[in-house]
Amino acid sequence: MNELSRDDSIIECRGVTKRFGDVQVLEHVDLVVRRGEFVAVSGGSGSGKSTLLHLLAALDRPTAGEIWVNEHDLARMLAPNRFRRSEIGLVFQMHNLLPRLSASENVQLAMFGTGRRGRERRARSLELLEQLGMGQLAHRTPPRLSGGERQRVAIARALANNPDILLADEPTGNLDPAASAQFLDLVRGLRESAGLTVVIVTHDQAVAAGADRRVRMVHGRLESA
Ligand SMILES: Nc1ncnc2c1ncn2[C@@H]1O[C@H](COP(=O)(O)OP(=O)(O)O)[C@@H](O)[C@H]1O
Ligand SMILES: [Mg+2]
Repeated sequence: MNELSRDDSIIECRGVTKRFGDVQVLEHVDLVVRRGEFVAVSGGSGSGKSTLLHLLAALDRPTAGEIWVNEHDLARMLAPNRFRRSEIGLVFQMHNLLPRLSASENVQLAMFGTGRRGRERRARSLELLEQLGMGQLAHRTPPRLSGGERQRVAIARALANNPDILLADEPTGNLDPAASAQFLDLVRGLRESAGLTVVIVTHDQAVAAGADRRVRMVHGRLESA
């Protein structure tokens, strides 16, 4: 019996299939994530992990199956921009920071159009960068930051609008163990204080060990890990 009630779950994938042409990338994926749960996804290269995150972020649609996120029917959603901006925080491997803007300005950019004033946006960006150990580097531009530092800016940007769900694709891939631990602390703190739900693709054992649940993608099928 499935003991999860509908109220309790924030993400529900039912029979999700994704094909690109003749290539079947996801095969009947079922995944239910509770509000405030932290799920780590592992799996080999090309197994479909990033594709699944894209579907959860409404960046693409499933070929078949249902995806409900925060009570939105993603397979049928017409205008996903607002959903992505206010409900989802995304950290992808290609983090697309703007090179001429400072770390702080890159984070502030995510808050435009949300009703926050300039001073508030700036304070929020500095607070997040500080929490990620980037307080001293907030004024630097991305070309003058290391890969791991840029990754932390991308994480701060993803969290700027207090999303309900953080979706992250190997967010600690470029981070040293100390920075990785800081990321974990921040995510755990947000889960406690704001009920943040987290789904991350990771190969980092320490991060996976900090999750509530581990699942593994194997050739487009999701298994418990
Ligand atoms: N837009 C696309 N068009 C065609 N094939 C794609 C596309 N996106 C991903 N794929 C293919 O789907 C498979 C799974 O990719 P991906 O989800 O990126 O895997 P992972 O993140 O687990 O490494 C790969 O074989 C990849 O080449
Ligand atoms: Mg990937």
